[in-house]
Amino acid sequence: MLCLGIESSCDETAVAVVSEGGLLSERLASQADMHALFGGVVPEIAAREHLSVLPVLCREALAAAGAAPGDLDGVAVARGPGLLGSLLVGLSFAKGFCLGTGARLVGVNHLHAHLLAPGLEREMLFPALGLLVSGGHTHLYRMDSPGSFRLLGRTLDDAAGEAFDKVAKIFGLGYPGGRVIEALARSGDAGAIRFPRAWMGKESLDFSFSGLKTAVLLQHRSWAEAPEAERACSLADMAAAFQEAVVDVLVQKTLAAVERMGVSAAAVAGGVACNGRLRGRMSAAAQERGISVFYPRPAYCTDNGAMIALTGYHRFLKGETAGLDVDARSKFPMDDLPGGRRGELQG
Ligand code: KG4
Ligand code: ZN
Repeated sequence: MLCLGIESSCDETAVAVVSEGGLLSERLASQADMHALFGGVVPEIAAREHLSVLPVLCREALAAAGAAPGDLDGVAVARGPGLLGSLLVGLSFAKGFCLGTGARLVGVNHLHAHLLAPGLEREMLFPALGLLVSGGHTHLYRMDSPGSFRLLGRTLDDAAGEAFDKVAKIFGLGYPGGRVIEALARSGDAGAIRFPRAWMGKESLDFSFSGLKTAVLLQHRSWAEAPEAERACSLADMAAAFQEAVVDVLVQKTLAAVERMGVSAAAVAGGVACNGRLRGRMSAAAQERGISVFYPRPAYCTDNGAMIALTGYHRFLKGETAGLDVDARSKFPMDDLPGGRRGELQG
């Protein structure tokens, strides 16, 4: 079975072709530089860019896979969550493609795809705990199979990636912030300052990062106002201390959830899963407890077409397809799929 995946939920346009043999080809066009001029993603610009590059990316990915449009059995497309205008471009393109070629259509939940992304390179173990840490989400799931997830905890305010982006903005380092903060933190001393960690109660698996962000803002303000000679710490120290506070909470809550669920594997996905400090500390803590942790490679942590194609592939195998009336959903929790029970991925 030959399946094309299309991702256009935010500022990356990405496509990929998969078959039973795995990933055959992929193409990605990032708009990050364009949005960096404005300090964040501009939805109108994002939608227009998706429209202009999608046909070229698809043509190239198909050629690289040695396939013609008519060879495709299915087209999987991200239908949410994300920017509505951007999602509609991908979804309309996918529908047109299916109408023109007779391929089957399936709508994919972007969060679902992120959590299955480790499976692009290694066979994942189930049941497992899934930590999704991206620019818009910080969610913990119990994953019983590739198609059955239950939400255990989530951020009540900012997502972890959003906190990285906001702190980078406070520091005047531009957008997106995760990678720059991580690079800056490498030369800092995480112990120089202690920022607060929000545990949300002893048993809670929910997260909160807005208090941390405010603490960094206040610390940075007094740091910037102080004469250079009187500063007790550097910008790199603040970056390292902030990163450590985020990583502490992510690692401890994930492992608490693993223990509570009685599973022996975890998947960590989404843009923040690129973070080397998070990967290092999560793996070390998991190893001590005999738990396997699966991460996608960094290119598959951030938005990509391969994860959409793979997730669509799993759904086609189960006989799931969508009609041409399938809609885009700006908010699309995994426990809110049409016809789905809470926690069950269906339809
Ligand atoms: O998954 P993703 O590409 O897009 C969403 O679906 O949100 O994640 C993007 C997020 C951004 O907030 C970015 O700052 C963060 O992932 N990110 C990182 C790193 N690389 C990307 N956060 C921390 N450390 C990184 N190395
Ligand atoms: Zn994403």
